[in-house]
Amino acid sequence: MVKRTPLEETVLSRIRPTGEEREHIYGVARQLLDAISASGQVQGMVVGSIARNTWVSGEHDIDIFLLFSPTLSREMLEKQGMTLARQIAAQFTDRFFEKYAEHPYIYASIDGVGVDLVPCYAVETAIKIQSAVDRTPFHTRYITDKINGLIDDVLLLKQFAKAGGIYGSDQMTEGFSGYLCELLVLHYGGFIPLLEAAAVWRPGTVIDIEHHAEKTFKEPLIVVDPVDPRRNVAAAVSLDRMVEFIELARGYLDDPKETFFAVPPHQAITRRALAKLLNERRTHLFAITFATPPYIPEIVVPQLKRSTLAVSELLERNGFSVHHASFDMQPERSMLLFELLIAELPAIRQHIGPPLWNRVNAGKFFEKYATTQPLAPYIENGQYEVEVMREYAHAKTLLESPHLVNTSLGRHVKQAIGQGWTVDEGVTCWREEFAAFIADFFDRCSPLARIRRI
Ligand code: UTP
Ligand code: MN
Repeated sequence: MVKRTPLEETVLSRIRPTGEEREHIYGVARQLLDAISASGQVQGMVVGSIARNTWVSGEHDIDIFLLFSPTLSREMLEKQGMTLARQIAAQFTDRFFEKYAEHPYIYASIDGVGVDLVPCYAVETAIKIQSAVDRTPFHTRYITDKINGLIDDVLLLKQFAKAGGIYGSDQMTEGFSGYLCELLVLHYGGFIPLLEAAAVWRPGTVIDIEHHAEKTFKEPLIVVDPVDPRRNVAAAVSLDRMVEFIELARGYLDDPKETFFAVPPHQAITRRALAKLLNERRTHLFAITFATPPYIPEIVVPQLKRSTLAVSELLERNGFSVHHASFDMQPERSMLLFELLIAELPAIRQHIGPPLWNRVNAGKFFEKYATTQPLAPYIENGQYEVEVMREYAHAKTLLESPHLVNTSLGRHVKQAIGQGWTVDEGVTCWREEFAAFIADFFDRCSPLARIRRI
């Protein structure tokens, strides 16, 4: 048995679900399972952290899977699965609605508990899965068998990752999922041994608990799924989230403090504070805002990421040096935000032509520019050069131009921007709904730097 520090004990007493909470959760889960059996159609199975006893107190969404026969077509699975899920949910509440991940499922709120009712295929082994959700029951069996004695370690890790802002495998976070946390604790034999190992991780670290990887993976952190040798459980973890975990691990081992487990309060910036900041930094802020495409974040967020990059490249190509760029997706509107070192450029720019010993091309260049430009071609380092008028001398006019729509934005973002977009400059970029995002945009310290500051 590991010896815990008083600090870890204090944290655990806060994040371990109470007996009352357990009873309540298990009670709701039991009633749902009974209702599923009573339907006589399929078996239900509780999966996720509730099944494995690894949920952090207060964060208790019940994941229930409806296990359909793999002989059913995908279409029928969706049809029958959703009908049953709706029918089950309706027995308990009228507060339920359809959600969509890889498949549709039902989310219901029952007695203050969020419940996901997810139709899936009951395949014999995880190798035979027909979609990602079919793996989940195998995860639950694998972890439940082995996690005994390490549950507190999982809770500490989940809370540590949440407080560090790196918990969650969604597109926005690009961090550590609950199942990944469980596997890491299992592999290293505890929270502290994991931190000690992570302190010396490098990109390309491979953890293959069952020694059965069937391919090589290209992501920075590789944790081969014990139930599926073709799957990297850490596929969602970005390089930055991985090294943030490394930094946090080192920081905690050096100086373990309560703040490593404290979820920081949400910050926001006021319009006035933004004005002051921009005045001090003397940088140029530009925001592109448009209606959020009506699809789930898993689809839209990667497109926003790509769009931010594409617009940065457009700005750079036109001579506007981008200092920092990011994006945010709110329910109504989305924003791409750019901090530029310069917003206005001179009317002319230099355009370099061929060397004169390339007779044919040099001749063509000369003929093209000799008559059209304010200054005829001149020679510099053996090459023709010419000064041309800049197409866009101000970043705002560039961002308002049709070039914006023609950069590689991703399908849905392109559609949304095609319907119209707004370009704001300086303090007018500020909007209430983006105040938290803008605060984070300027306050982008590493997790350890943030903890040091508290
Ligand atoms: P959850 O996101 O609810 O995670 O997914 P969790 O393990 O229950 O953790 P918390 O406590 O709610 O945060 C439910 C299950 O779906 C599978 C895992 O088996 C997970 O336990 N899953 C989810 C994945 O395999 N990968 C993912 O990225 C997300
Ligand atoms: Mn869960």
